[in-house]
Amino acid sequence: EMQRSLVGSEMCIRDRLILWEQRHLRLLRYLYYKEVGMYYIGVDLGTSSVKLILMEASGNIVNTVSKSYPIDFPKPGWSEQNPYDWYDKTCEGIRELVAGYNKDDIAGISFGGQMHGLVILDEDDNVIRPAILWNDGRTTKECDYLNNVIGKDKLTEYTANIAFAGFTAPKLLWVKENEPQNFKKIAKIMLPKDYIAYRFTGVHCTDVSDASGMLLLDVKNRDWSDEMIRICGITREQLPKLYESYEKVGCLTKEAADTLGLTDKVIVAAGAGDNAAAAVGTGTVGDGMCNISLGTSGTIFISNKEFGVDNNNALHSFDHADGYYHLMGCMLSAASCNGWWMDTILKDKDYKSAQECITDDMLGNNHVYFLPYLMGERSPHNNPLARATFTGMTMDSTRTDMTQAVLEGVAFAIRDSFEVAKGLGINITETRMCGGGAKSELWCRIMANVLGIKVELLKSEEGPSMGAAMLAMVAAGEYGSVKEAADNIVKICKTIEPQKAIADRYNSRYNTFKQIYPALKPVFDEM
Ligand code: XUL
Repeated sequence: EMQRSLVGSEMCIRDRLILWEQRHLRLLRYLYYKEVGMYYIGVDLGTSSVKLILMEASGNIVNTVSKSYPIDFPKPGWSEQNPYDWYDKTCEGIRELVAGYNKDDIAGISFGGQMHGLVILDEDDNVIRPAILWNDGRTTKECDYLNNVIGKDKLTEYTANIAFAGFTAPKLLWVKENEPQNFKKIAKIMLPKDYIAYRFTGVHCTDVSDASGMLLLDVKNRDWSDEMIRICGITREQLPKLYESYEKVGCLTKEAADTLGLTDKVIVAAGAGDNAAAAVGTGTVGDGMCNISLGTSGTIFISNKEFGVDNNNALHSFDHADGYYHLMGCMLSAASCNGWWMDTILKDKDYKSAQECITDDMLGNNHVYFLPYLMGERSPHNNPLARATFTGMTMDSTRTDMTQAVLEGVAFAIRDSFEVAKGLGINITETRMCGGGAKSELWCRIMANVLGIKVELLKSEEGPSMGAAMLAMVAAGEYGSVKEAADNIVKICKTIEPQKAIADRYNSRYNTFKQIYPALKPVFDEM
């Protein structure tokens, strides 16, 4: 077995040995306890890549695979992807993920998916046009119509939210107006992860957490809004069937099972929007818990047992994957700002060395500021025309100051939404963190000090894929509820406390930061 797993592999020998050892521990468990735990697949259909994990019900991650796909920016502020790429890469990744495992031991699969993306299929199930993504800003006109002609009050009454450029309903109106021939062809409307679930099960489904971001769902009552259906000129039949995130949608079809190298007994659970899935993966469930995700987007997610709306609609009010609700602020470019700065501008892949020289005495002492609005901004400014900018440089400013400014600019922008939550009377004293940005302990320390709260780090920062696998476990009956799964699986491995001196310095920096956007807004409008 060991020889077989070492041959023809791209994994390093150490990883292979660990895998080999885990498999033998499983065998021993079987011999002693006559007990074989099942495996669950978590799919995080992200913007830059699909991240897959294979997890035991205990929470032990036994394998991970990631496959990237392209993103198109056909015009400034527009962003699109091809759903066939998502499907092909997900299948390729799952085959790799489960290679060498007994397919009868794989019990379930579920998803966390990039939210809001519009996927439309014709009556033969062909994708009609590339998916328009969550960070696409083309729908300014449609949002104006929804927010000002239909009116924010009505939208809030129907859906608990107002229109933001990335949401799905304004995109439907955009297609109706700009591509009427495509609009006429629409037989099925769905969100990104639901396209994969559809190809896997044949069921046109979605879950309530992801559906909340369409501006078509009556979030409070967890059902489609007939008023929004009418406003968008669509029908209920075109919309997917609604599920709770932890509910079983079906099993893999025979064809999907063959494609993936699995059996048709594998249960498929509806899954969740990536932020709700990440919240499950970090144990942010039940009442008053907070999670910050630093991925392509940056979000602050507050779980609630009661339904509630931010009267100014700066935070989204959505259904949660645990059966309850949440509030969320979403910035459109977070870890992607650092990616853009390092990869595109500096052409330097060594993120670690770039951050190593940023010492504690430099935190809160940086004269350089960065506005992170590379794709416009959603929360709290709701302005697709906002743009990124560096400011405050002098002749002695260094590349490191600018790198630090990027990390700080993202933290300050998260604080903008954090302040909105505080203004609603929500008292947040600690947060969990996940996403690629959470790999940087420096960034987590900056976040703790900019927000002045404790940051809890988990064993794995793979929030959405872990949450997805946990939802599959609940659907398969391993756990009685999402909360029970989280209580058993999620483990905090480190807590970063804010340091008073640094937090005080950041407070005064934040006061400067928050004046930059209003000062530049008229310039962004002209640009
Ligand atoms: C949330 C949002 C983003 C995407 C990223 O409202 O738009 O976090 O889900 O994948």
